Amino acid sequence: MHLLLLGIGSIIGSGIYVLSGTAAANFAGPAIIASFVVAALACVFAGLCYAELASTMPVTGSAYTYAYSTLGELPAWVLGWLLILEYGIAGATVSVGFSGYLVSLLGEFGLSIPAVIATPLVQSVQGNGGYTFIAGSSVNLIASGAVAVMVVPLIFGLRGAAGINSAIVMLKVTVLLVFVAFGVSAVVPANYQPFIPPNEGGFAYGWQGIFRAASLIFFAYIGFEAVSTAAAEARNPQRDMPIGILGSLAVCTALYIAVAWVMVGVVPFRELGVTDPLALAVDRIGKPALLMFVKVGAVVGLTSIILSTAYGQSRIFYAMARDGLLPQIFCKLHPRFQTPWLGTIAVGAGMALIAGLLPITLLGDLISLGTAISFAIVCFSVIWLRNHQPEMERPFRVPGGAIRVRGWWIGIVPALGIFMCLVMVAPLVIDIAARAYDGELLPAGLLGGYIACGAAVYALYGYRHSRVGRGLLPVSGAAIPLADQ
Ligand code: ALA
Repeated sequence: MHLLLLGIGSIIGSGIYVLSGTAAANFAGPAIIASFVVAALACVFAGLCYAELASTMPVTGSAYTYAYSTLGELPAWVLGWLLILEYGIAGATVSVGFSGYLVSLLGEFGLSIPAVIATPLVQSVQGNGGYTFIAGSSVNLIASGAVAVMVVPLIFGLRGAAGINSAIVMLKVTVLLVFVAFGVSAVVPANYQPFIPPNEGGFAYGWQGIFRAASLIFFAYIGFEAVSTAAAEARNPQRDMPIGILGSLAVCTALYIAVAWVMVGVVPFRELGVTDPLALAVDRIGKPALLMFVKVGAVVGLTSIILSTAYGQSRIFYAMARDGLLPQIFCKLHPRFQTPWLGTIAVGAGMALIAGLLPITLLGDLISLGTAISFAIVCFSVIWLRNHQPEMERPFRVPGGAIRVRGWWIGIVPALGIFMCLVMVAPLVIDIAARAYDGELLPAGLLGGYIACGAAVYALYGYRHSRVGRGLLPVSGAAIPLADQ
């Protein structure tokens, strides 16, 4: 039950509260329901691979540790850099979602927050073939402030009592269940027609739109991997890891599909591209008490996920610095609180800056891209490890059999996982490239800049200072013998 709650708590966030509306309005229309199924499939295959690695290497850590143990330093670095994208920017993205619901909640009390401090510098507007970006003159100080406030308890080593966390998870789930229960009766069947609106160019609607929307709302599923970080503490990893990972995915998939079904049934899909689509839908349902409940639930629920992503991010920095891949400042512990406090402050500052400047759409896309690639590496790690260390004890093995290609074991599940991650990545990359071709360089520039920065940090710092480079055993890679490096 703890693992399930950990998973569900890390999964439900801005993805369903905000991006579901954006994806329906810009890309999929009512077929957003299908997009949720496609994205869930990618996560199930990756989730099974996580479960195998987590039961094989029940070490504290994350995919970064697995990659170090199985594939070696460079892939681990790539994965670490992708996870920074995932956790660091996910925290910023969730705080942008938080600001939308907070402003909306305060509005219920007659407090109106000026848009100039609640809107990012770069804004996305509905445009040709999806959304397009314009520069404004505002900064989302509400989102930045939320990050700053959340980082403080982490510096002092307070993560919230398990009881509080469980209560917040229950609240998040209850909000969605209540939304569905009350929304069903307000559904207008005409809103589902046509279920797949005809394509209007680019990725706006049609089959293209379903896959493009799936690659954006893939973000909504991110977080189930948090369960694997608790593998070392599970009583029976063989049974507990798959239940925790796949169980939390199953619960969230069912909830997401139900919520999406009600949302597009209550509000015509073109109107859903707002910062608080669920609140908009509740407004149409016409139950004022429910409106307050959903807004409070969103604000509280999103707070907890900002906290957990900032925590995850500071620990990834910590693990990478310990292995010499990042400057030692990130693994320096506070003498009294025993937390990587300087790293945590740096993470908070970076997240606050991003949250203030960029829109949730752009952030969601970048995170989905980075995460899909990191999931593909995890799936590949399973194949690699089965071939290079076949004798290792594997309490949980991915089901579904395998084929042999030139003697290589290629599992069906990991192979499908890699394929589905590519299905998530492809529409994003095509969209980003097409926009760059049309002169909109921001998404491609940010992505290219991130990759270039990663390469520079590794070449100028990590490569020279890493423990492996200095002939030492990496701390993270020490989980299993580094036979193949
Ligand atoms: N899955 C998380 C969310 O939707 C990151 O906010």
